[in-house]
Amino acid sequence: MRWKTILMPSILGAAAVLFLAVTGFTLPREEGAAPMRSEQFEECATCHEEHAETFLLNPHSALESEGLAMKAGAESSCTACHGDPTAHLDEGGGEGNIFAFGEDELPSARTESCQGCHAKEHPRFVATSHSKAGLDCTSCHGIHGDVWALFDAPSQIRTELQSPRVSDSCTDCHNEVFAEFEFNERHRLQEGTLECTSCHNPHEPPQRWMLGGFKQEACSTCHADKSGPWVFEHGSGRGEGCTSCHTPHGSPNRHMLAFQNVAELCYSCHIAVPGFHSRFTLDSQCTSCHSTIHGSHIDPFFLQ
Ligand code: HEC
Ligand code: HEC
Ligand code: HEC
Ligand code: HEC
Ligand code: HEC
Ligand code: HEC
Ligand code: HEC
Ligand code: HEC
Ligand code: HEC
Ligand code: HEC
Repeated sequence: MRWKTILMPSILGAAAVLFLAVTGFTLPREEGAAPMRSEQFEECATCHEEHAETFLLNPHSALESEGLAMKAGAESSCTACHGDPTAHLDEGGGEGNIFAFGEDELPSARTESCQGCHAKEHPRFVATSHSKAGLDCTSCHGIHGDVWALFDAPSQIRTELQSPRVSDSCTDCHNEVFAEFEFNERHRLQEGTLECTSCHNPHEPPQRWMLGGFKQEACSTCHADKSGPWVFEHGSGRGEGCTSCHTPHGSPNRHMLAFQNVAELCYSCHIAVPGFHSRFTLDSQCTSCHSTIHGSHIDPFFLQ
């Protein structure tokens, strides 16, 4: 039986992909049309009233009310994700006879059942460190919780605060990162200036990260004035981008620099400096002269 329950979601998924590829995600919605409910939905609902009810608060309810799942070849929205229900229905319910996104099912099978419809948006998910660490779509997205539980992990926090934040969904697993946002010098995450997802896409491997490009690009959306291109580029940014000098989350140092003293930062890369620099100490403000440190259009030494 198991191969069937594991395989079915992907078969249905493939059909759904075909369908969605043809029609696109945003089908015209008929205003005022009575919500459609499949026969099978009603059957599932007789025993799973609560799941059916909470499901209708989820954006996926469009699969049912707009008939998307049925057009994609499933008998109801329920089985678009849960696969073939034959054994489950034959046995009058019970566990282990229908795909249930449970612990005993492979993360890859869980992901695949979502990717049947979503692969186009997040094609590289399997290459993320999230996927490699055994997470799947449902580690972050819940389907049957309340409205806010689209992100399962923080549903409690969300309900308490009544003001859902995307970043809350990262809390449970990345506490140590949140601690970095407690430093004085930090991005104002708590105040809502940005979210974890302003810089990270949890669905995509940071492919350009290794080349330095990602970091620069992630920062450039908001800090275009620091990003060039310049006539005289500071070669420091070539490898690691902005993070060769700044910690991105927060730090105890001024301007979120990687070192407490600016000079120490400079000397971490520069061994050769002009002779007259011997009068400077680690406390010297190198940037009082090299004031266009991010790059310049007029001076190769980043002087004023
Ligand atoms: C978009 C995919 C999707 C659809 C559509 C869907 N489910 Fe689920 N279902 C899930 C996921 C994922 C879980 C695992 C728990 C969770 O994440 O909420 C689940 C879990 C369940 C469970 C087990 C709950 C538990 O607590 O272990 C039942 C029962 C269930 N769904 C019934 C239904 C019924 C009935 C429908 C139709 C009204 C339905 N599902 C529609 C994805 C879906
Ligand atoms: C006759 C009642 C009945 C009907 C009809 C029924 N179920 Fe269930 N279902 C149960 C019972 C009982 C359980 C086990 C206890 C529980 O999780 O609620 C269950 C469990 C499940 C689970 C979790 C299985 C697991 O291994 O943990 C899923 C998913 C599920 N049902 C989906 C569906 C879907 C989808 C439909 C409609 C196609 C459906 N059920 C129709 C009674 C029913
Ligand atoms: C049968 C196709 C189908 C399957 C399978 C499916 N989805 Fe979706 N999903 C959709 C559609 C269609 C929408 C858009 C709904 C809308 O715009 O109202 C959507 C929307 C979403 C959204 C965005 C909601 C928002 O607020 O914008 C998330 C997140 C999501 N799905 C996650 C999942 C996860 C996780 C799974 C697997 C458990 C899954 N989906 C399985 C069709 C599907
Ligand atoms: C590590 C947590 C995490 C995982 C794992 C995850 N998501 Fe998401 N997802 C998010 C967050 C956070 C957002 C909201 C992004 C935003 O608003 O900037 C989101 C948004 C979405 C959206 C709507 C907007 C968009 O970016 O397309 C869809 C659809 C979606 N996810 C589907 C999936 C699917 C399918 C999977 C599995 C292949 C998955 N997600 C895995 C955290 C996750
Ligand atoms: C269910 C747990 C879980 C959730 C929720 C989660 N993560 Fe992760 N995250 C992990 C694991 C596990 C890894 C891989 C191991 C590691 O590097 O710590 C990881 C790795 C990462 C990495 C390192 C990526 C790399 O390639 O080096 C980033 C960045 C990240 N997560 C961001 C996020 C963001 C942003 C969110 C919220 C949208 C989030 N995570 C939600 C568990 C989670
Ligand atoms: C301003 C952009 C930005 C924001 C906002 C941001 N990050 Fe990051 N994050 C980065 C960059 C850049 C790196 C790479 C750091 C490096 O390689 O030195 C990184 C690294 C990481 C890593 C892997 C290395 C580590 O430090 O553990 C994780 C996990 C992570 N971030 C999670 C998060 C989470 C969770 C949030 C929200 C609380 C968040 N990030 C907010 C830019 C950001
Ligand atoms: C060579 C090291 C280095 C690199 C690479 C670097 N910075 Fe800086 N940055 C500094 C120093 C040093 C300061 C403090 C300047 C001062 O002391 O006045 C600073 C200050 C800043 C400030 C705050 C001061 C202001 O003028 O607004 C921002 C914002 C900033 N950097 C963003 C970035 C961004 C974005 C990148 C990547 C495009 C980047 N930095 C790359 C060294 C660097
Ligand atoms: C979504 C917009 C956004 C993104 C993306 C972003 N920042 Fe910022 N950054 C800000 C804002 C706004 C401030 C001003 C302080 C605040 O209110 O958070 C700031 C402040 C800073 C500062 C401190 C300036 C000072 O005066 O001390 C540095 C350094 C910095 N950012 C570097 C970066 C780096 C490096 C990245 C990429 C990893 C990045 N930022 C990505 C919006 C952004
Ligand atoms: C991450 C390493 C790194 C850091 C940190 C760094 N630089 Fe550089 N810097 C470089 C590289 C690489 C070049 C380009 C050298 C080349 O092209 O030969 C460069 C070029 C320069 C130049 C242009 C002259 C030249 O040699 O081409 C000056 C001036 C300079 N840096 C000053 C500073 C100052 C002042 C600081 C501290 C605020 C600093 N740098 C921090 C790596 C770094
Ligand atoms: C009083 C102004 C002043 C201060 C302060 C200063 N510099 Fe310079 N720096 C200069 C000038 C002027 C040059 C260009 C010399 C030339 O024309 O060869 C220079 C050149 C450099 C170069 C390029 C060397 C080369 O020939 O490629 C580096 C690296 C450098 N400085 C690092 C530093 C560091 C590190 C500090 C802080 C400890 C610092 N500077 C503080 C004025 C200053």
